[in-house]
Amino acid sequence: MSLFLDITLGCAVSLAVAGWASFGYLYHRKRHTTQFKETSSTPPRSMRHLAEQQKDETSKLAETIPAKTLILGPLGQVLGCNSLTEAHYKNSLPALLRHPATRDTLAAALKAPIDPENGLPAICATTVNLDVPVKRTIRLAMRRLTHKHGRDSRVLVLLSDRSTMQAADRMRADFVAHASHELRTPLASLNGFIDLLKENQGAATPESQMLYLDIMTQQTTRMQRLIDRLLYLSQLQLRGHTRPRTPLEIDELFAVISGEVTPRFKDNNRVLHIQQEEGLTLLADEDELVQVFLNLIENAIRYATQPDKTLHIHLKAYRAGPDENPSATSDGILLSLEDNGPGIAAHHLPRLTERFYRVPENQAATAEAQQGTGLGLAIVRQILERHGGKLHFTSVEGQGTTCWIWLPTAAL
Ligand SMILES: Nc1ncnc2c1ncn2[C@@H]1O[C@H](COP(=O)(O)OP(=O)(O)O)[C@@H](O)[C@H]1O
Ligand SMILES: [Mg+2]
Repeated sequence: MSLFLDITLGCAVSLAVAGWASFGYLYHRKRHTTQFKETSSTPPRSMRHLAEQQKDETSKLAETIPAKTLILGPLGQVLGCNSLTEAHYKNSLPALLRHPATRDTLAAALKAPIDPENGLPAICATTVNLDVPVKRTIRLAMRRLTHKHGRDSRVLVLLSDRSTMQAADRMRADFVAHASHELRTPLASLNGFIDLLKENQGAATPESQMLYLDIMTQQTTRMQRLIDRLLYLSQLQLRGHTRPRTPLEIDELFAVISGEVTPRFKDNNRVLHIQQEEGLTLLADEDELVQVFLNLIENAIRYATQPDKTLHIHLKAYRAGPDENPSATSDGILLSLEDNGPGIAAHHLPRLTERFYRVPENQAATAEAQQGTGLGLAIVRQILERHGGKLHFTSVEGQGTTCWIWLPTAAL
């Protein structure tokens, strides 16, 4: 409210100056006309000067306000636009000012009654959704400027961007919907089998009872994993803004990963190949990076659908110059995990790290593939963001998938 009082004051000052200037102009003009004949088609210089002076003052007034601000005339013309507004909304301004909601709100603000409590015209607000030139949601709060001597037809507009807030709201709603759906499916299956066991008491063979119990165990394990992953993801998000500072040797990291996954490579038809340059060091959280590679290796194994084909997984690390990551400002380490599994169709690749996203074709393939939660790669992305890393996938259907991870090297 005090902002508006200040504005009102500023406006009163500017109008006083303008009033004084117009008095000066009239006085000057009166004297002037007696001496020269002016053509009526072009406004006299002094009049133009006055209009410019007023425009300058309105711009200055807009500039003094430490928020994205516009001052509009009664026809929606921009009389003042501060640099904050320029910087944020330059390209969207024409579309915003043309928008019917903006025009209606301006008309309402021009006619708004005076609030008896504070003696100021009421605030009129609207939220505008723009599709062009970029999709954004902008809230406009408008109030007519006032001054001591009568009505002012200028309207002060404060702009605030609601795009990220709206996107976050949508994401939260989607997330809750997905999470509850994912939990509801195994719960429904559990309920079904419990009912079946109750109804068939004594009648069901021990084999079928065992089968039901096996499925029930699978479903509870799935729910457990889903909840564990959701909790892990939210913990990661909580510490997402702090960068890990502990030096970690790639040799050591690969040794831990290989120790963890060895039992899964006991089978003859799975081979893990590890290859790395010497002396690579990162600043990283070891547990989190181990988690990244366990998720990736788990995927390579889980989605390998041809039991008669030997699965080869290659884990590699080598130094990478900035040319291998165009958005990097320093040298880094490129880690890759490549498999010769079924591959992923190109149109799925950009969505793999979304929470709950699963590739339908790969998901239905095997019982193990159906156990997925769609959260593994979201966790991977979250961990890498915290490490200042970059992640992308390349894949050829029928030939395999490679996950590429770029991480900044430790400046020791
Ligand atoms: N190496 C891979 N080969 C084939 N498909 C993969 C591979 N890695 C991931 N995917 C696909 O990407 C989806 C998302 O993976 P992820 O986030 O780890 O979730 P999930 O819990 O389903 O494994 C998986 O459902 C799977 O369809
Ligand atoms: Mg996974």
